[in-house]
Amino acid sequence: MPSRDSAPAQKLLAWYDDHARDLPWRVSPRERAKGVRPDPYRVWLSEIMLQQTTVAAVRDYFHAFTERWPTIEALAAADEEDILKAWAGLGYYSRARNLKKCADAIMAAHGGAFPDDLDALRALPGIGDYTSAAIAAIAFDVPAAVVDGNVDRVVTRLKAIDTPLPKAKPTIKAEVAAMLDANRPGDFAQAMMDLGATICTPKRPACLPCPLRSDCAALNQGDPERFPVKAPKKDKPLRVGAAYVLVRDDGAVLLEKRAGTGLLAGMTQVPTTGWTARRDGETGSDAAPVDGLTWRQCGQVRHVFTHFALDLTVWFARSNCGASDGQWWSPASELAGEALPTVMKKAIACALPNAF
Ligand code: ADE
Repeated sequence: MPSRDSAPAQKLLAWYDDHARDLPWRVSPRERAKGVRPDPYRVWLSEIMLQQTTVAAVRDYFHAFTERWPTIEALAAADEEDILKAWAGLGYYSRARNLKKCADAIMAAHGGAFPDDLDALRALPGIGDYTSAAIAAIAFDVPAAVVDGNVDRVVTRLKAIDTPLPKAKPTIKAEVAAMLDANRPGDFAQAMMDLGATICTPKRPACLPCPLRSDCAALNQGDPERFPVKAPKKDKPLRVGAAYVLVRDDGAVLLEKRAGTGLLAGMTQVPTTGWTARRDGETGSDAAPVDGLTWRQCGQVRHVFTHFALDLTVWFARSNCGASDGQWWSPASELAGEALPTVMKKAIACALPNAF
């Protein structure tokens, strides 16, 4: 077991008091010291958005969501379709669907107030080990060990842990639990994240101004970048398919909704073939949704999903035909507001460079 050592936590918090990033969901350490508490709704929303996404990418979405839905009640009352549209571009769309389910559960089972204990948080839709710990610590000052990718890096360096990730996770969590400051758990969690994001960066960490430099075993060994050690990555399989961008004379684009389950469930797309790993999979115009049109090949877009990479051949044609069941013509001015995942925005932009 790691031994309890509060000294690094005090150095880290002193650094955070001066260098905390100004983030729209955050209560600054100065405000926090005066007794201001973060709004659990904003903490939760930011943590869900920040899963697999950077702070820079999240800021605008966070502002748009909190302006439109300022409270958990407002979000619970929203249409799932509107939430998906507002989420479009952030990726991992099951997060957006779980957002609505979680808001509903908090209204139904918790009277509209976020629970403050780890198990109750963990039981809510879309909230796992990391997110429950982050909400408990940041919103309620529960002394929970909050370990994200930034914290993995800080701790494996600090303790020179050379077990590869993800196997090292339990050791890292135990080190954080031993190190955290029980008087300021929320600030401690955010300080670790900020240190990882701004000082203890993956490449060329800024060790000179680091508040933990005298405690850092990796720096002492002379090569902090060696940590965290990662298990070798497996190559992702490649799938292929075709996407068909059909445009009406007035500029409207033919869209349809994806199936309600599976990858990108319920999101919007241009007509597309299935996406197959077979080398002879359909990528041509012969699989197009409307016969008798002149299809022009615009190029290929690549999109990398969690479990595979996709090469989509993009086709373009003009037509004023009617939309079939489950399809609609989206006017050019409304395209940006459709629930189009990034792969579909790329496909449409390949055919219509000024679409967005
Ligand atoms: N990354 C994930 N959660 C974060 C938070 N609360 N503050 C800063 N960066 C984060």
